[in-house]
Amino acid sequence: MDFAPTKDHELLRETVRSWAEKEARPTAAARDEAMEWPADLVRQMGELGLMGVAVPEEYGGAGLDYIAYAIVIEELSRVDASLGVIASVNNSLVCYGLQQFGTEQQKRELLTPLASGRALGAFSLSEPGAGSDAAAQRTTAVRDGDHYIINGVKNWVTNGDHADTILLMAMTDPAKGHRGITAFLVDTHAPGCSVVKVEHKLGIRSAHSCQMAYDNYRLPAWRRLGEEGQGFKIAMTILNAGRIGIAAQAVGIAQGAYEAALAYAKVREQFSQPIIEFQAVGFTLADMATRIKAARLLTYEAAWRKDQQLDYIAAASMAKLFASETAMWVATKAVQIHGSNGYSKEYPVERFFRDAKITEIYEGTSEIQRLVIARELAK
Ligand code: CAA
Repeated sequence: MDFAPTKDHELLRETVRSWAEKEARPTAAARDEAMEWPADLVRQMGELGLMGVAVPEEYGGAGLDYIAYAIVIEELSRVDASLGVIASVNNSLVCYGLQQFGTEQQKRELLTPLASGRALGAFSLSEPGAGSDAAAQRTTAVRDGDHYIINGVKNWVTNGDHADTILLMAMTDPAKGHRGITAFLVDTHAPGCSVVKVEHKLGIRSAHSCQMAYDNYRLPAWRRLGEEGQGFKIAMTILNAGRIGIAAQAVGIAQGAYEAALAYAKVREQFSQPIIEFQAVGFTLADMATRIKAARLLTYEAAWRKDQQLDYIAAASMAKLFASETAMWVATKAVQIHGSNGYSKEYPVERFFRDAKITEIYEGTSEIQRLVIARELAK
């Protein structure tokens, strides 16, 4: 067993960390407040190879492994969790799906621009009536010659209003239940696909989550991903990998909140001493550091299992479950250590606190992660 990071992984961490500190940190709070889409930062992330970290170089990616991908999402989220999810959706929910299930034409025409940052991807499974019960799809896709006609409404489409390609799930045969779901690669620039609204959210506000509508949207059949009826399996396979990304995002949020609390506790004086010298504060910081380390190890182990082509369904769900609950716990404690200042937008911990919550919800709630883990244990 080797716990030492490779030189390449360490170099990658330093590169992403210093980029995020220099380019993203100064504007993170203001972008969050204004719900401002970070167009220039997304462009820079593409140029740095952060939008297709684990995609082979022949398809425009950086050709690295999934541990590298986890490090990238962690370091982005340590500074700005909105950047973490924008990159995570493109990397693991769209590029990975195309890599696994795409035809050569789809890889050349769609994956390559997405992985190299020349285009942006979004993933569209959730609907007003299909959240945890992802199979309850109402959006329909009806074959019409060499096209499909798509109608329906999709919710919580991260990156939706800026995406070029959306990996969309729709019902092609409702009688077959989850086996009647098919995956498609939507061209958002074609008529019939529109953004209904951008959600006003508690956190990750600089990343946009949209409700989107399809009104007799005509999609050429070559843009179907996989076979008809394979869509639910494709969505689940993609989410297994995506959950490693959200676990990494949660580790990054927790790390950012912890570092802010540690720095504050060293300089804030009460009762004539820095508050870190009070055992209650010191012990809290000790618990934060310990839980973050455990969450990071679970996340890297899930990524490592994926890299080794071992089964990683339970490992990814365990990492996502534990890391997201760690992020929420650590961010709550970080606010507490800051006292009233933690409740103010003058300090970064209130943003980490708001951002942490979503990691317990999207890409499968904590309850769904427990369900997935329990089912894997029972196998
Ligand atoms: N990996 C691979 N295949 C899986 C799977 C997994 N983790 N889970 C289920 N499957 C397969 C099953 O093997 C089964 O296959 P067959 O058709 O061959 O039998 C099929 O899928 C149906 O499985 P179930 O009967 O277990 O399905 P279910 O409906 O009882 O439960 C669920 C499935 C686990 C609850 C699933 O619906 C789920 O994961 N729900 C959560 C949805 C989710 O994570 N949404 C996130 C939205 S995307 C998002 O958040 C993006 C963003 O903004 C960042």
